[in-house]
Amino acid sequence: MEQQDVITLLSRREIEKMRQAGQLAARLLDYLEPMVKPGISTQELNDAAEAWTQDHGAISAPLGYKGTVIDFPRSICTSVNEVVCHGIPSPDQILRNGDIINIDVTPILEGYHGDTSRTFFVGEPSPLARKLVEVTEECLWRGIRAVKPGGRVGDIGAAIQAYAEAEGFSVVQDFVGHGVHRIFHTAPQIPHYGTAGKGKKFRKGMVFTIEPMINVGTHEVEILADGWTALTADRKLSAQFEHTIVVTTEGVEVLTLLPAQVPA
Ligand code: MF3
Ligand code: CO
Ligand code: CO
Repeated sequence: MEQQDVITLLSRREIEKMRQAGQLAARLLDYLEPMVKPGISTQELNDAAEAWTQDHGAISAPLGYKGTVIDFPRSICTSVNEVVCHGIPSPDQILRNGDIINIDVTPILEGYHGDTSRTFFVGEPSPLARKLVEVTEECLWRGIRAVKPGGRVGDIGAAIQAYAEAEGFSVVQDFVGHGVHRIFHTAPQIPHYGTAGKGKKFRKGMVFTIEPMINVGTHEVEILADGWTALTADRKLSAQFEHTIVVTTEGVEVLTLLPAQVPA
């Protein structure tokens, strides 16, 4: 087996490290959220994130991350409107009222990655944008709740796909959740579509992300010449939410959820 096929089961001490990294990632999004206003550039968000990350003793995993054309040139991903994921912050990209923006952060703290993203409204969203973002966040939570002892990876995608499609939206297939610990992207792959009861069995100590990207129109994506920026083929809106989770005896612990954000 290739090293990337091996699903590492983390020890209690490694899970504590992942918890620290995950909590830091969530705090970084909380720090950035109030800056998301019409008139700010995605570069300014990037620079604020980089400074905050350094101030907290961490490293931005995206910066210099290996790509097919160029290595990722910024510290966070900022994906606006029709950008599905991996948007590159730029001083030329100014947020406008009505935009939606996913901010995806991955600080590395003491060698462990905390990977989380949320989609924010810039000013007042359209009714469609609001519905897409609400459905996408609910997709993430349905995926998380599908992780149960004895279950399988396919249970996650099945739960997400059923809800997204019932709401009239589509699920991106070209990007998946992933194992994450000392390595940023590793086994297992976590598709956000699929069949319940299929795939790898959940085991205590497995750590991975769930990060559904949900589109208003087609699920098809296109990649720009930079090798990173992924956009919807029909240029309609896309949203995404991401958490890093660990499988426990009872179910899951969401490592990138702050105590104040625990849903009712
Ligand atoms: N954080 C993204 C994910 O959820 C990965 C970004 S890779 C980058 O997996 F290089 F674009 F930053
Ligand atoms: Co991820
Ligand atoms: Co991410």
